[in-house]
Amino acid sequence: MKTSATARVVMRELHRLRIREDALQIPKAEAEALYDLVLRRKCKLGVEVGTSYGYSALHLGAALEQNGGILHTIDIKKEKFDAARKSFEKAGMSDVIVSHLGDARRVLPAIPGEFDFVFLDADKKQIEQYFDLAWPRIKPGGMLLTDNVTTHPELVPFVQFLHRLPNATSGTLQVGNGVEVTYKKAK
Ligand SMILES: C[S@@+](CC[C@H](N)C(=O)[O-])C[C@H]1O[C@@H](n2cnc3c(N)ncnc32)[C@H](O)[C@@H]1O
Repeated sequence: MKTSATARVVMRELHRLRIREDALQIPKAEAEALYDLVLRRKCKLGVEVGTSYGYSALHLGAALEQNGGILHTIDIKKEKFDAARKSFEKAGMSDVIVSHLGDARRVLPAIPGEFDFVFLDADKKQIEQYFDLAWPRIKPGGMLLTDNVTTHPELVPFVQFLHRLPNATSGTLQVGNGVEVTYKKAK
C-alpha cells in the first residue's frame, strides 16, 4: 500500500481498536482489498456511510489520495467523529478525508458531485434508505459497496434486490465481512 509512514502508524493504531466492541471496523484484509479496488478503478470521489474511528476511511482515503481524489465520510456519533477527525489529522490526510457529523440520510444528499463509489457500513436497518439516496448519485461505471453481506443474514434480501437491479452487475467479494460490489452499468 502506498501511503505515508505517518498514515501507516495511525492505521496500525486503529487496527488495535478492533478489540473495542464499539469500533466495529472492517478487518485488515478487507481494508486492503477495498484500497486495491478503489485504486484500480481510478476512483476520485467516494463517500463512506459509517466512519466509526476511521480505520476503513484511512484505507479508502489512501487510494483516493493516489488518484488525486477525495473521500467524504459520515458518522452520527460525535465521539467517533471527533476521534476519527483527530486520526485523519495525525495521519496527514485531513485534506483528502472530509468528515461529516450527522445522520447519513440527511448529510449524504448535501454532498455535491457524482460519486465513483459509496461504501455502506452503518445501521443495517436503514440500508434501503441509504441505497435510495446513494444509487442515483453514483456515476455510470461507478460502484456501490455494501459491507457485512456474509456476516449479517438480515442483508440477504437487500443483496437479492441488488442482483435484480436492471442497470447493474453485482457480486460478492469474499473477503473480511463480505463486500457486495454493485457496478452501475455505463450508459
Ligand atoms: C460498522 S461501524 C463503521 C466502521 C468503519 N466503516 C470501519 O470499518 O472503520 C458503523 C458506524 O455507523 C454509524 N452510524 C449508524 N447509523 C448511522 C447513520 N444513520 N448515519 C451515519 N452514521 C451512522 C455508527 O455510529 C458506527 O460508527
